[in-house]
Amino acid sequence: MRLDKYLSESGIFSRSEAGKAIRSGRIAVDGSVLRDPSKHIPETASVTCDGKPVVWSRYQYIMLHKPAGYVSATEDKGRTVMDLVPPACTRLGMFPCGRLDIDTTGLLLITNDGPGAHNWLSPKHHVTKTYRFTCALPLSQEARSRMENGLELGDFTSLPASVHMDTPQSGEITITEGKFHQIKRMFAAVENEITSLKRVQFGPLVLDDALEPGQWRYLTAEEIRALQDVWKKETEQ
Ligand code: URA
Repeated sequence: MRLDKYLSESGIFSRSEAGKAIRSGRIAVDGSVLRDPSKHIPETASVTCDGKPVVWSRYQYIMLHKPAGYVSATEDKGRTVMDLVPPACTRLGMFPCGRLDIDTTGLLLITNDGPGAHNWLSPKHHVTKTYRFTCALPLSQEARSRMENGLELGDFTSLPASVHMDTPQSGEITITEGKFHQIKRMFAAVENEITSLKRVQFGPLVLDDALEPGQWRYLTAEEIRALQDVWKKETEQ
C-alpha cells in the first residue's frame, strides 16, 4: 500500500499531513527514511514517525471510559462520544459499537470494524455485558431470581441474567443481550429503579482501571484477538 495511505489509515495524520511528514524526512520504513508518499510498502513493514513506531491495521479499536452526559452516536444535537476521541476517528469512519444511555458510564468500544461490530452486537452471539449498578431499593432475593430466570418485559422476555450483590442496593449484573434500556427495564419490572449504571465488561474486554471517565486508549493486540475469537468461535459452531 502507498506510504501516505498507510500513515493516514493508522490514524496519526490526514492524507495531506502524511505527505508533508514523509517529504520532510520524518518517516522511516524498515530503518530507512523514505521521502516519496506514493512509495508502496508492505503492510508488515516496520514504520516509524520521528523514531516512534506507527502501527497500521485494517481496523482501529478504541476503549473509551464513557462519562455521563454523552450520547453513544456519531451525530446528535448534544455531545457525542466521538467528541472525546481524536478527530481522526471520525475521518476513519469509527463509530460506537453499541450504545450506553446518556447517564450510563463505562466501557464503550469505538471502532471502524463494521463486520466485527455486527457480530459482537448480534443477538445470536450472546456477547456478555457486565454492569455495576446501584438501585433505589434493596433488591430482594425474589427479584434477583426473577432476573436470573428471565423476565417478561412486555415486548420481549429477557434471557437469564446473573446478579451478584455487594450490598442490598448495589452489585453487578451480567446480561447476554442489549435491548434498549434493558437493565433499567428489568429493575422497573421488579418494582425497583436503577440509580447508577456503569459497564465494566463487554465480552472479553474489561474496563481499564487506569482510564478516568472521558479517557480512552487503543486496544492491545491481545484484546483485539480476544474480540475476534468471540466471533470465530461462533462461526465454527
Ligand atoms: N441497560 C440500560 O438500561 N442502559 C444502558 O445504558 C445499558 C444497559
